[in-house]
Amino acid sequence: MKKGKKIYEGKAKILFDTDKPDLVIQEFKDDATAFDATKRGTIEQKGVMNNEISCALFRLLESKGIPTHFVKKLSEREMLVKKLDIVMVEVTIRNISAGGLSKLLGIEEGIVLKKPVLEYHYKNDGLHDPLINDYHIEMLGLATDKEMKKIKDYSFSVNEILKDFFNKVGLKLVDFKLEFGRHKGKILLGDEISPDTCRLWDKKTNEKLDKDRFRRDLGKIEEAYQEVLKRIKS
Ligand code: TMP
Ligand code: ASP
Repeated sequence: MKKGKKIYEGKAKILFDTDKPDLVIQEFKDDATAFDATKRGTIEQKGVMNNEISCALFRLLESKGIPTHFVKKLSEREMLVKKLDIVMVEVTIRNISAGGLSKLLGIEEGIVLKKPVLEYHYKNDGLHDPLINDYHIEMLGLATDKEMKKIKDYSFSVNEILKDFFNKVGLKLVDFKLEFGRHKGKILLGDEISPDTCRLWDKKTNEKLDKDRFRRDLGKIEEAYQEVLKRIKS
């Protein structure tokens, strides 16, 4: 696979063209940002760890019937993926109260929710990724009803698969964010699934093993990502 021109650089990843028009290379950086990139830093080896974690989780999801953009791992920091026309809606699923939900509704963190809560956020940094609903999505023409039904069904299935998987390696899946895109007329799960995009707490101690260690200056950031990778590989 020939690596071509850079086509997009985001906060944590860079996309490159390949010699195949429908495939791109997703390269993971060590850069970390939070709060609309007002907080910036580097997490040593994060790109390597998030690539490996994401590859493993995409393989798992594919094996359970969730269509994803994942093709194969190319190198330490690179993954070959199907080129997507990204749906500008971020899907968040929450199993335990934390972060944005606690802030929005004024509830303490750590409450196990009776059933998973799904949220949509408009993928728009300028507007700070505002919370939106199906009506806003239709109004803005971000996706069709049919596409959103698929996205919602896939998201809840991903939650069940990942909750069960992480539980088996001693981690609670508190919440996570997914992105989807269109490829040859189909909706595929895209982006990454990693401690940058999931909240993961140790089952016994509730220790935070995710990007909240960076967001909240809790220290031992690299160690947390390493621990997640170690457990996923166990
Ligand atoms: P939130 O509680 O801040 O809304 O975050 C919910 C989940 O989404 C959490 O697991 C972290 C992830 N997330 C992202 O992947 N990107 C983001 O920009 C934000 C704000 C959260
Ligand atoms: N990466 C996001 C940003 O910089 C936020 C986050 O993950 O907390 O806006």
